[in-house]
Amino acid sequence: MSKIIVLMGAPGAGKGTQARLLEERTGLPQISTGDMFRALAKAETPLAEEVRAVQAAGKLISDDLVIRIVNERTNREDCKHGYILDGFPRTTAQALMLEKLAVEQGNEIFAVLVDVPYELLEQRAVGRRSCPVCGEIYNIYFKPPQTEGVCDLHPETQLTHRADDTTEKIKVRLETYERETRPLLDYYAESKRLHRVDGTRDTEAVYADIEDLVKSK
Ligand code: AP5
Ligand code: MG
Repeated sequence: MSKIIVLMGAPGAGKGTQARLLEERTGLPQISTGDMFRALAKAETPLAEEVRAVQAAGKLISDDLVIRIVNERTNREDCKHGYILDGFPRTTAQALMLEKLAVEQGNEIFAVLVDVPYELLEQRAVGRRSCPVCGEIYNIYFKPPQTEGVCDLHPETQLTHRADDTTEKIKVRLETYERETRPLLDYYAESKRLHRVDGTRDTEAVYADIEDLVKSK
């Protein structure tokens, strides 16, 4: 049975960083709903404008839209042998949709919590910078680029700072996470599908734990 690896964790915990490493090293595609919506938000359409506003506010996009996008994306050919979900599910409705999807696709759900205490998250998020070309994730405190402000792999490209990575918005995002998403940890724990890794250590140490878990189960 192929696995749907569900990376769970608070905003800034390191889901995207780990999902990118998993994709690179296992070949399974990373499906980040946050990245998909940030790409969609670049258009000049009423829907893009709405998505931009919701993301910038740190609130959640409607379940209907998220579910439609995940359904379409995960039924593509490259997901046949499993995939990595980064930032989905985030609500009970989304988790229930994923149960159905997993049955239809013949996959098993394998949830991994990247566990980081809230007090460390603000610095991770405020310090984050990303490359708009390749998506590489940096941090001015923990993983600075070789040259300030530009991607190591695309030196002609200025790194970007997300509109929701401010102290004020991180507070809202954490409240949203606490209310809507954290209950899903119990949901997966009750059915013995939740695996926890200590996300406070360096990126490679966190990755090694995730890899061990995925291989051993
Ligand atoms: P999304 O993009 O998913 O944001 P998030 O959940 O808030 O998570 P982040 O991307 O901020 O953090 P991350 O855990 O990926 O951390 P990262 O690896 O980058 O969603 C954004 C918005 O889109 C939502 O608010 C919502 O509006 C919408 N949305 C998305 N999905 C949705 C859904 N399913 N339903 C409804 N709405 C949805 O790391 C963070 C920083 O820390 C980086 O700088 C990194 O370099 C650094 N770092 C990572 N690991 C370490 C480490 N081990 N040590 C030190 N630094 C580290
Ligand atoms: Mg992310």
